[in-house]
Amino acid sequence: MTMFFCKECGFESTKWLGKCPACNSWNTFVETTKLVQKGKKNTHHLTDNKNKAIPLDKVSFDENHSRIASGLNEFDCVLGGGIVPGMVALIGGEPGIGKSTIMLQIAGVLAKDKKILYVSGEESSEQIKLRSIRLGINSENILLLCQNNVEQILQEINNESPDLIIIDSIQAVYLSAIDNLPGSLVQIRETANVLTRMAKQENIPLFFIGHVTKDGAVAGPKILEHMVDTVLYFEGELTNQFKILRTTKNRFGSTNEIGIFEMTDKGLRQVENPSEQFIMNQNNYSGTAISCVLEGSRAFLIEVQALVSPTNYGNAQRVAVGIEQKKLALLLAVIEKNLMLSMRELDIFINFSGGIKVIEPGTDLALIAAILSSFRDKPLREKTVFIGEVGLNGDIRPVSQMEKRIKEALKLGFKEIFTATDIKIKPKNVQLHKVKHISELGPIIFD
Ligand code: TYD
Ligand code: MG
Repeated sequence: MTMFFCKECGFESTKWLGKCPACNSWNTFVETTKLVQKGKKNTHHLTDNKNKAIPLDKVSFDENHSRIASGLNEFDCVLGGGIVPGMVALIGGEPGIGKSTIMLQIAGVLAKDKKILYVSGEESSEQIKLRSIRLGINSENILLLCQNNVEQILQEINNESPDLIIIDSIQAVYLSAIDNLPGSLVQIRETANVLTRMAKQENIPLFFIGHVTKDGAVAGPKILEHMVDTVLYFEGELTNQFKILRTTKNRFGSTNEIGIFEMTDKGLRQVENPSEQFIMNQNNYSGTAISCVLEGSRAFLIEVQALVSPTNYGNAQRVAVGIEQKKLALLLAVIEKNLMLSMRELDIFINFSGGIKVIEPGTDLALIAAILSSFRDKPLREKTVFIGEVGLNGDIRPVSQMEKRIKEALKLGFKEIFTATDIKIKPKNVQLHKVKHISELGPIIFD
């Protein structure tokens, strides 16, 4: 049967449409063949099939009992407390970021008392063996299946009845009932559908590894994200040792929780005190400021670096690593307007330590302090932290969970704190600066 569906949101239609009625994107409809199973509706949700409503208080559920700890705390935290039986998760990231590595490490820990089926459609068993030697993993409970055909994979799942299944990657497997190439929209949708349904029926946790294109989307239809319970993204620059695992969707916990890892010669290592890791520059140079960010349930300190230098030729450059380019443009406009500084003929480069991508606004103030510091070529005082959002007219605003952030700064021995709020905790030997507008910064941040 021929169907059309939207590449952006997965909306289905029997005829081609120029504009998607669901997500309003233009020209996103593609023609596909739809796999229809006879006499069976395509359901892949975790639902009871009985057509009888049950009172909420009669539903039995023991959360702690059902969660399986993966053994990597950072990973469990990202999942919201561990692996849930029958959960289907997608772990996305650029090629080479460490997706296969982390899944093999998790398999290695769980193999103590669980049977894991690691299906690889991309690498040979020798390649995986080589990786497992580097990681120091060896177990008879990890079963490797180097197979691309989903029908065969399902058969092996049936034979072995594993406790956890890893599919590396969803772009590499295919159903032979469909003509399209592996990695195509239809193949991804239908293979994910078939495997998800199996996982739900058998109550086996299933992890799909998915490659992500440069613009940050899972290569293939967005519907993959709709189909799974949990979506995890591995982010960070490939050349940077830190990798951040972030939840963008979680039916079993909160989103925006992050796990921080470091790639070493023996695989991924959990980073337990990110504050200490992300503040690399203990000597104060000009253009460096410290802020405290809140990611999920934890706060940690990070370093913001700014380099402001005269433009040599052509247009002034604006390069931001770790924040959006538009955010930088906005803050520069705020500085120019409120502090009467002209940045037009200056190149400005911004970098956040550790390759972390910052989405929350609490680092605005530190960013401005770093830019001012580089602009005047004067270092900021040591052990100073800046926490606050900056509004369009230069006003400084408080951000969420201030106490938590300040506690983290105090724990690391910070001596001066710049914020827009009154702080309840009054620590000894610590100077608190309440600043309401960026024009107040200049006179007090430098010696
Ligand atoms: P990999 O997990 O294969 O990435 P993905 O599956 O996301 O494509 O490998 C990530 C990179 O990490 C690869 O370039 C090799 C490197 N690496 C290490 O530095 N140390 C290790 O112990 C391992 C296993 C890999
Ligand atoms: Mg891989």
